[in-house]
Amino acid sequence: MRLNKYIASAGICSRRKADELIANGNVRINGALMRTPGYIVEEGDKVSVNGKVIEGETRKVYIALNKPTGYITSMKDEHDRLTVADLITDIPERIFPVGRLDYNTSGLLLLTNDGDLAQKLAHPGHEVTKTYLATVEGVISDARLNRLRKGVDIGGFVTSPARVRVAKQMPRSTVVEITIHEGKNRQVRKMFAAVGNNVQKLERVSIGDIRLGRLLQGHYRKLTRQEIDYLKSL
Ligand code: URA
Repeated sequence: MRLNKYIASAGICSRRKADELIANGNVRINGALMRTPGYIVEEGDKVSVNGKVIEGETRKVYIALNKPTGYITSMKDEHDRLTVADLITDIPERIFPVGRLDYNTSGLLLLTNDGDLAQKLAHPGHEVTKTYLATVEGVISDARLNRLRKGVDIGGFVTSPARVRVAKQMPRSTVVEITIHEGKNRQVRKMFAAVGNNVQKLERVSIGDIRLGRLLQGHYRKLTRQEIDYLKSL
C-alpha cells in the first residue's frame, strides 16, 4: 500500500494531510526519513509519524454528533477550551471531525477515522448539501430571501444558488431553513449579514441525506450501514 494511503488508513488523518506530513519530514520508515508519498509500504515496515509507530488499517468508525455551542470542532485545543473530543467518551479509535462547525453553531457533525471518506466529503467538487436552521433578526423580506437563493457576495466570493425557506415566523425573529453545498468560513452567517439580517442562532440539521433527527445536544450515535454506504456512494 502507498505510504500516504497507509497513514490515512491508520486513521491518523486524510490522505492529503498525510502527503503534507510526509513532505514536511514527519514520517520515517524503519527509522529512516521518507519523503516519497508513493513509497510502497512492505510487510514488516515500521512506519512512524512524529516519532510514534503507527499500525495499518484499523476498524472504521463513523459517528454523528450533535455538537452543542461552546465546543471547538477539533480533537484538542492549545488554549484548553472544550472540544468535541470532550463529548466522545467510549470510542477508542482516533477519530476526527469531517469539516467544521463554528464555536457558536450547534448541530450535526460527522466524525470518522476513515481518511479517504473524510477527504472526499471535504472536497469542494463533491458538493454535499448541508442544511441549517438559522434564527435571524427581524422579519426577512421576500426580496432578501430571493437574493440568498440567487447568491450573495460575502466578501470577494459570490455564493452559489441556495435553497431557502421560512420555517417559522416569530414576532422579532425568523427561523430560516437554508441548504448550501459550499463550506466557506462562517458562510451562512455571512450570507445573512450580507442581506441585513444577522444570525442569532445557527444549527446544522443535515449533511446530504444524513439527518440530525432527535439526537440530543452533546449526544452521538454510530451511523447505520445504509448511511455509511450512502456517504461512500457520493
Ligand atoms: N456557516 C456558518 O456560518 N457557520 C457554521 O458553523 C457553518 C456554516
